[in-house]
Amino acid sequence: MQREHWGSRIGFILAAAGSAVGLGNIWKFPYLVGAEGGGAFLVVYVAFLIAIGVCVMIAEIALGRQAQSNPFGAFKRAAGGGWSIFGLLAVLTAFLILSFYSVVGGWTVAYIVKTVSGGFSGYTGAEFEKQFGALVSSAIEPIVYHGAFMAIGVLIVIRGISGGIEKASKIMMPLLFILLALLVVRSLTLPGAMAGVKYFLVPDWSHLDADMVSAALGQAFFTLSLGMGALITYGSYLGKKESIPNAAMWVVGLDLLVAVLAGFLILPAVFAFNMDPAAGPGLTFITLPAIFAELPFGMFIQLCFFVLLFVAAITSAISLLQVVVAFVCEEFNVGRKSATIWVGLVTFLFGVPSSLALGIWGEFTLFGMNFFELLGFITDNYFLPLGGVATCLVAGWVSYDKFVNEITNEGERPFTYLTAWKWMCRVVAPIAIIYVMLHATFDV
Ligand code: PHE
Repeated sequence: MQREHWGSRIGFILAAAGSAVGLGNIWKFPYLVGAEGGGAFLVVYVAFLIAIGVCVMIAEIALGRQAQSNPFGAFKRAAGGGWSIFGLLAVLTAFLILSFYSVVGGWTVAYIVKTVSGGFSGYTGAEFEKQFGALVSSAIEPIVYHGAFMAIGVLIVIRGISGGIEKASKIMMPLLFILLALLVVRSLTLPGAMAGVKYFLVPDWSHLDADMVSAALGQAFFTLSLGMGALITYGSYLGKKESIPNAAMWVVGLDLLVAVLAGFLILPAVFAFNMDPAAGPGLTFITLPAIFAELPFGMFIQLCFFVLLFVAAITSAISLLQVVVAFVCEEFNVGRKSATIWVGLVTFLFGVPSSLALGIWGEFTLFGMNFFELLGFITDNYFLPLGGVATCLVAGWVSYDKFVNEITNEGERPFTYLTAWKWMCRVVAPIAIIYVMLHATFDV
């Protein structure tokens, strides 16, 4: 059977950027900047994004395209039997991440519904905090929204690559940029906004330590959707004539742009209202609504913001879903429709304990973490980095020639930075990534 393809180059770039731009950019990045010392974190993060992120992304796309396969088949074909274990790991990671990502995605749906139905009117700061706590910790409500979020993902992926994922990305990514631009302008024109801009851009190097460096690299991986097969899978539908390095640079550029804009949206608002930028995960769900409530047309601004967050989340979720769906279709010969429905259902069920872990199952912990935190910790600190290192080693050492062939389109499009890329994959990226794993484990 003929493999599906993206309808156009821009379709691939928007879909891959959709995968990259997610909760990681709008929810996690600003609170990391807040917690890890503003501009200093930004500088380290951008350095990793450009030096390591682009290289690993090029390797992943090339791996998928040369093998024309899901991550499992891709590792098997590119590097042979034993390496395919890393393909399996990538698929497993995508599944695990999607299960709890969809829980958070569900919260964005809940906020949209509550904003539209007027459920928040008259709320003040403390009430937002209470209602967020009540939402995430209740037994049924967040699971219903998690189910709704997953169902929307299934409805998109079931329509296939160009008819589903590409079409959805082509509508949603421009919408995302429009909403973001609107919100940034509003935030920057608040009195006192400049303090936030300053905090975001002016590095305070006293924050530079191993924790920060490791958080920056971890975030670079997560935000680019590296290490869990998303770009291997998306790359496998990319036409043979397209330039991989060029596409990768676009995707990284767009991802960085959104993260920086999200910083300009959130930090100035937080500073203008004298809130705590290091508030952590509650920053977008508690602090921001409290700020919006103070503004004229606050509910409208709030709606724009949570639609933005939803769009960012769903375009990422579908890339994770597609990883698992492609694997099931290709390795077990199942049709796309039934594969999508089954994968969606099983992932939904697996997400339920993550949601409950924030409420009634909160006391079940392992190593001091509940189920939700544990999944995040394991995938962030071990599975993603392992996937990344494996891709680098296969690209840089095991099948280097095949990769060069793929990246240069059989020699037709020379890649100027080939030598730099090679040594990044061979030595620099693996060492940096392994360091992050060690740091998470032994605090070295
Ligand atoms: N890159 C996404 C984000 O920043 C998260 C994600 C990870 C999406 C892995 C797909 C795959 O939120």
